[in-house]
Formats: sequence, structure tokens, C-alpha cells
Amino acid sequence: MFRFVREAFRDIRNTGSVWPSSPALAKAMTRGLSDLRGSRRVLEVGPGTGPFTERLLKNLRDGDHFDIVEMNEAFCRDLEKRLLVPHRRKRPGVKVALHAAAIEKAELQGPYDLIVCGLPFNNFPPALVRSIFRRMMSLLREGGELAYFEYAGVRTMKAPLVGPSGRKQLKGIAKVNESLRRKHKGKRELVLGNLPPAVATHLRKSKDAAAQRPARKKKKSRAKSRA
Ligand SMILES: C[S@@+](CC[C@H](N)C(=O)[O-])C[C@H]1O[C@@H](n2cnc3c(N)ncnc32)[C@H](O)[C@@H]1O
Repeated sequence: MFRFVREAFRDIRNTGSVWPSSPALAKAMTRGLSDLRGSRRVLEVGPGTGPFTERLLKNLRDGDHFDIVEMNEAFCRDLEKRLLVPHRRKRPGVKVALHAAAIEKAELQGPYDLIVCGLPFNNFPPALVRSIFRRMMSLLREGGELAYFEYAGVRTMKAPLVGPSGRKQLKGIAKVNESLRRKHKGKRELVLGNLPPAVATHLRKSKDAAAQRPARKKKKSRAKSRA
């Protein structure tokens, strides 16, 4: 907890919150794992101090493969020492790899059956949000699940506190979310047992290859915008 608060004050844009997610949110975000049969390939993006990681590790079986991508080196050192080294010792049959990199650049070998993502998308420009989702969707197998979360009502609460360009950015992010939910049968789940309450979104990768690209906002034609 202390490490998380310290990193949040050092880099609030990428950390996105001042404390880690609750066990209730971790349960909602990782639920998809128990539906998968056989050996499973799982990716976690942005684990921070690891509330989702801990739950995933507990439920992985021999033969499963788990990749974790975290760009903050202090979080990586802590995860490795506190969770991963003891887990590898206890459960050598589960393959776990930590990649200290941004998801945009991490060297990963898909496809994954499940991707659990804890990134603070509402702090990012829409173009980055789109490109990160495009990357994650390209790493997910057809029919696989991508789970991500945001704080309930976060954009509505943030809007009055930011300027016009901030509001434009929030609208852009909302559009990316809506488009993804439409294309990939998105299901939302309100988790009250988190501070603040959060909404977990579960996307199921659709067969339509074009659906891997979240739609861009269409520019109005000049003639139309003049009219
Ligand atoms: C909101 S915290 C979530 C931590 C944890 N999943 C939780 O829910 O408590 C976001 C995490 O994503 C990491 N992060 C931010 N941008 C990233 C990126 N582009 N690639 C990988 N990790 C990133 C941050 O360093 C931070 O650990």
C-alpha cells in the first residue's frame, strides 16, 4: 500500500490512482479465468502492486502460462520479490514472466485466452488509448476475454475540473469505450466494494477482424461543417 501511494505521488498520470484495487474488484476482473479449460495463456497489463496478479497466481494451474507487463520499475522489483519468486519456487509447473516495459513496446507472444488490464485510460490521450486496445486485441485469441476497469462516473466527475481540451479528451475516451463495447459484446459490472466504486468491463473478442480497430471519430466534411 505504501509503495503504491509513493509511486502515485511520483507519477499520477501513469499510476492513475492513489491506492490499489480491492479484493472485490480483483475478483470481478479475474473471473474469466475459471471458465477456461485446458492449459491457459493469461496476460496482465499494469499490475501495480499486484492485487489482480495475486488472485491470478492463486488460481493458475500447472501448464498455464502467465505474462505480466508493468512499465514502473519500482513496482516490477516489488512484484518479482514479493509475489513471483515465491510463486515460482512453490509452483514450478506454472510459467510466469514479468516484462518491465510499456505494453506498447513489450515483446509478447500471443495469442492469450484472457487479458486483465489495470491501465488508467482516462489519463491518456484517445490516440494512445486506441493504440493500446488495438495492441491488446491483436494479442487476444478469437473468443478470448479482455477485462479492464475505470472508476464509476470518473469522466463526469473529471469534466468540470479540466479545461476544454481535457473535456475533448474525455469525450474521445468515452467514444473508444463505447465502440469497443459494441464490437466485442461488452458487459459492464459495477463493483461497489472498491474505493472509489469501479466498473469492470469484460469484452469478448469478436470474429470480425475489422472489429479489432476501435473506430476513429469521423471528421466532418468541410462543406458540412460550414453549413
Ligand atoms: C491504476 S494502476 C493499477 C494497478 C493495479 N492493477 C490495481 O488495480 O491496483 C495502473 C498501473 O499501470 C501501469 N502502467 C501505466 N501505463 C502503462 C503502460 N503503458 N504499460 C504498462 N504498464 C503501465 C502503472 O505503472 C501502474 O502500475
